[in-house]
Amino acid sequence: MNYKSKDFEHVWHPYDTLKLPEQILIKSAEGIFLKTDDGREIIDAISSWWVNLHGHGNPTIADAIAAQARSLEHVIFAGFTHEPAINLADQILEELKCGHTKAFFSDNGSTAVEVALKMALQFWFNKGKNRTKIIAIEGAYHGDTFGAMSVGGRTKFNQPFEQFLFDVAYIPLPDQENFDEVVSNFTNLVASNDIAAFIYEPLVQGASGMRMYAPQHLDILISLAHKNDVLCIADEVMTGFYRTGKFVASQYCDNKPDIICLSKGITGGFMPLGLTTCLPNIYDAFVSDDPYKVFFHGHSYTGNPLACAAALASLSLLRLPDCLVNIQMIANEHDKFAKVIQAKFPNHKIRHIGTILAIEIITNTPTSYFNELKEKLYFNFLKKNILLRPLGNVLYILPMYCITEQQLRIIYKVIIEELDGG
Ligand SMILES: Cc1ncc(COP(=O)(O)O)c(C=O)c1O
Repeated sequence: MNYKSKDFEHVWHPYDTLKLPEQILIKSAEGIFLKTDDGREIIDAISSWWVNLHGHGNPTIADAIAAQARSLEHVIFAGFTHEPAINLADQILEELKCGHTKAFFSDNGSTAVEVALKMALQFWFNKGKNRTKIIAIEGAYHGDTFGAMSVGGRTKFNQPFEQFLFDVAYIPLPDQENFDEVVSNFTNLVASNDIAAFIYEPLVQGASGMRMYAPQHLDILISLAHKNDVLCIADEVMTGFYRTGKFVASQYCDNKPDIICLSKGITGGFMPLGLTTCLPNIYDAFVSDDPYKVFFHGHSYTGNPLACAAALASLSLLRLPDCLVNIQMIANEHDKFAKVIQAKFPNHKIRHIGTILAIEIITNTPTSYFNELKEKLYFNFLKKNILLRPLGNVLYILPMYCITEQQLRIIYKVIIEELDGG
């Protein structure tokens, strides 16, 4: 069978902005390499949309899934439970170190966010308080379902659905220049007594171009929110699992979120899984003799044992000393590379934290996901067997933790060559 033409005929791929005549057919993958049907080995420098942590085909995770499949592949998660879900909830809540005591399972990052929003809104509803508004940060990306789109930045992506998205109060991404204004705006908003929650991607707005902001600024916003009883939702879907150098980016702040959304790296990139965790007082608002106070939310695959087994195996790998050493190595290498590239290309804006490095390439056209550089860079890197999928004119590296110094340097070298003009 000609798989590529069958794919073109029948498969609708996500974010199909590149108008590819055919997709690249991957036969297998190992470590940082994607192996194509025609024998190419492509370095996956973005961890396949930020999901993979320990490398493709990691045998520890693969074995854990296989073993789990032989004992329990799935069971309805209402009225039933199982050890992988219990262990996972227990271990993640402990790692978060912020007093969260309950974990709600779903399937992906968007649903983890939907659950968080519904939890926050129903928390106030159950308490009989009229707090129905959400504050979000301009340019945010929280996923592609309707609630997640509503709290995301209003862009061309969600324009066709604009009239169906609920009303949200936005604050600008804080920086040194605008912070006083942001604080005064935010203070007025949270004092208005109708705000249910403030949702944010802690320290890094991923999809909108790896836009970073200071933990000190976020800390102040969370404390202002808390002073006014506004719940804080940290969307750690991208930043979780050491992407920023700590288990979750919220650990850079003294003030902690009431609700955390996790997904992507949670299973090491093997299985879809979302997790929304919360403080005990949130859960308590749903415990009642009144049946209408129940959280009426659930997905068929909620708490899937295979996904939980993958996540437990991934957590065990994260705890190995070598893994943390390598995460630090990536952060150090990024730091050195950032200095080199900033000196060589002083106009470009370089941002990095932990294992994430972004280069905003300044062109005559404004920074945007639709900047024409996106396509050119994507194809040029692919020709050199490196998968880098720029967010418009923002090029970023988000490697897996098994990458070596030498492999990182190959990516850096190719980036410099490309920025130098190919
Ligand atoms: C911060 C953040 N939240 C939510 C999502 C949505 O996750 P998913 O694509 O798994 O629905 C993403 C995806 O990129 C994300 O970066």
